[in-house]
Amino acid sequence: MRACVITLGCQMNEYDTHAIQSQLAGIGYTFVDNFKEADLVMLNTCAVRGKPVDKARSILGDLRREKRERRITVGLMGCLAQLPEGQEMGLKYGVDIMLGPGALTEIVPAIQKGKFQSFEFKQELNFYTPPPPVGTLSAHVSITRGCNHKCTYCIVPTTRGAEVSRSADDIVKEVEALRDAGVVEVSLLGQNVNSYGLEPGLGPNRKLLPGFPSFADLLRRVGRTGIPRLRFITSHPINFTDDIIEALAETPSVCRYIHLPVQAGSNRVLKRMAREYTREYYLDRIRKIRERLPDVSLSTDVIVGFPGETEEDFQDTLSLYDEVRYDMAYMFIYSERAGTPAAKHFDDIPHDIKVNRLMRLIERQKHWSWDRYRAWVGQEVEVLIKGRAHDEGLMQGHTRGNHAVVVPSGIAPTTGLYRVTVTHATPHMLYAEGALPVPTGVGTHA
Ligand code: SAH
Ligand code: SF4
Ligand code: F3S
Repeated sequence: MRACVITLGCQMNEYDTHAIQSQLAGIGYTFVDNFKEADLVMLNTCAVRGKPVDKARSILGDLRREKRERRITVGLMGCLAQLPEGQEMGLKYGVDIMLGPGALTEIVPAIQKGKFQSFEFKQELNFYTPPPPVGTLSAHVSITRGCNHKCTYCIVPTTRGAEVSRSADDIVKEVEALRDAGVVEVSLLGQNVNSYGLEPGLGPNRKLLPGFPSFADLLRRVGRTGIPRLRFITSHPINFTDDIIEALAETPSVCRYIHLPVQAGSNRVLKRMAREYTREYYLDRIRKIRERLPDVSLSTDVIVGFPGETEEDFQDTLSLYDEVRYDMAYMFIYSERAGTPAAKHFDDIPHDIKVNRLMRLIERQKHWSWDRYRAWVGQEVEVLIKGRAHDEGLMQGHTRGNHAVVVPSGIAPTTGLYRVTVTHATPHMLYAEGALPVPTGVGTHA
């Protein structure tokens, strides 16, 4: 039997795809990339904005056509499957199986029954330990599932349920197994990794649940496994404590890269978004981070055109960009999500205004990215080469600061860690020469 799992959305979905695949492999499935060759197609969906929902609808249309021609089982999973909108879509397009993101452990019974739906959250069961990978250099390790925040624009708490943290012993054991299997880079994964082990609630003063270390102590523990590169995504500014910054500074294996989504630069907008912090609080975190980790690279997520955002509010986002000087930024146009508080209480603003602001923000970010990337020219950095680049004769990878790098394949012929010297930079890429392999286990800061 052959299965095809199509994955939309973020790293959480990629992780869930692996979890599903390993359960399917356990009952004898092999995997194909093209759904036309599969007996079972699972579509792992995202609902965070309108675009991925449209994409899911279009793939479901293709699958319905395929279903009319031959016997095939179609499953809808992921965030959209958890929502009424997705469940209606599933019925309309005649899918056989629907599993919400909290019901991953039900894939096998679902397939055995042929027709099945489950939307209950069984979060703890969904922390799965994959079989040791073969030839993989980077791996994700899920440390929390779900989200307890209440950002007014966001559908994720509805689709992924309440936050649950995985046991620290299990996390450490999994990282050790990955290290032993030759994995060089581990990313700890969660909607907000830094609320790891915290009691439910909002704001900066959440207490630790009994039996859990803080996220800072978890980083220290995982750092001691000797994994050469340790990353973590995503962090919420409100719980990005001084102790986490300290743990980063003390733990050389943790990459000098922090993704700290700000969402907006204006206090008025932050308040309406219910982000729990002010611009000043956020900038104070950035100041502390830069003070303690001068070589850190920073990235953010920003939403433009949130309901009621004025030109003045938007100028606050532009000026925040100038203060922070991000290395990278992921910028989105606000997309109204049915059922969220923002959709209920606020009116959307005109699309052309949102597009215009997005363009201006992208321009500003390009300026700072180039500034940040250029600063590496002439320096020696460590790069994890992951494979061939688009351009002929080049291999591509990324630095510990998550900057994209290309190197001539003649000097970095295989995947792995290398030390290289940066010769040239664009706003999105470092070009490097002079590659020397780094013995695994000797990760260094740059
Ligand atoms: N838990 C993470 C992000 C999850 S969603 C965090 O809090 O940082 C990834 C990003 O999508 C968010 O950071 C936000 O910038 C964006 N996003 C979420 N909902 C959105 C919406 N309704 N419209 C546009 N962008 C949205
Ligand atoms: Fe959404 Fe906010 Fe939770 Fe992030 S912290 S997933 S933006 S509700
Ligand atoms: Fe990720 Fe999309 Fe769900 S961003 S958490 S797959 S809604």
